[in-house]
Amino acid sequence: MASSEKRRLSVSLVDVRSGHEEEFARLATALEGLLAAKRYGRLEMIADESRPLRFYAVRHWIDAAAAERCHADPEVHALTSKVYEIGSITHVVNGVRRSDAAQAAIEDSQTRKGDRRIWLERRLADLGRTEGDRRRGLDRRAGSRRRHDQGASVNLVNAARRARENANAAFSHFKVGAALESSDGTVITGCNIENATYGLTICAERVAMFKALSEGHRVFTRIAIVADTEAPTPPCGACRQILWEFGGDLEILLANLTEDTGTHQLKDLLPLPFDARLL
Ligand code: THU
Repeated sequence: MASSEKRRLSVSLVDVRSGHEEEFARLATALEGLLAAKRYGRLEMIADESRPLRFYAVRHWIDAAAAERCHADPEVHALTSKVYEIGSITHVVNGVRRSDAAQAAIEDSQTRKGDRRIWLERRLADLGRTEGDRRRGLDRRAGSRRRHDQGASVNLVNAARRARENANAAFSHFKVGAALESSDGTVITGCNIENATYGLTICAERVAMFKALSEGHRVFTRIAIVADTEAPTPPCGACRQILWEFGGDLEILLANLTEDTGTHQLKDLLPLPFDARLL
């Protein structure tokens, strides 16, 4: 998809704490007014049909510059920080072009996240659309993947190799390293950590994901996993589930200490997944 055709759309999921519905409605109305008055764009707050305290905050930006001005606006900050006080916000789609180097990673994330967020986009986009429009919209998204460059993959794999050196595998002696890339290009690493009860062991991939989430990252592109084995070491079932729920259809790069052993999409490793859409 050419960048000029890109939709300037950002979507956040807002879970309002019970008892704060009226305050949230007031804040949402104030934010809608502010975005329109300052000509940043249009805020549409869509209530989830099945979860009464969940909303989708859809921002249709006038253009990327307007989005950037909005993000820097203290009046907007004052209102959004009040929303943070009465609910939790998860940024699901970031559709604005940034001027900094992180843009390439964000674009990758946006295209690669297509499968995971398709349900949300479809739900939003389908409001008032015909069946034909709906199909055309889906076709456009399906054709929008693009490849990462080679150098970035090497760096991610090397980061996983370094992380593996910190593994605490006193019982299995099987050390694993992982490096997770977030949409802004940050690399968050993890290694497996075992303990005397065995059962509390946590794999490298989940350490990386939980570290990333705890540091505020929400959108991810790829994960590299390294073990000292000739055959590929793919993520275990538990990790596939966690990676899917928090990272969507990640690209999974497998490697050992000297070479790559395979690249997969998470959706192929976890067909028919269970996730929040089914709750
Ligand atoms: N392990 C990982 O960290 N990631 C994987 O993908 C497979 C398994 C760890 C868990 C345990 O500490 C050791 O490897 C042996 O299962």
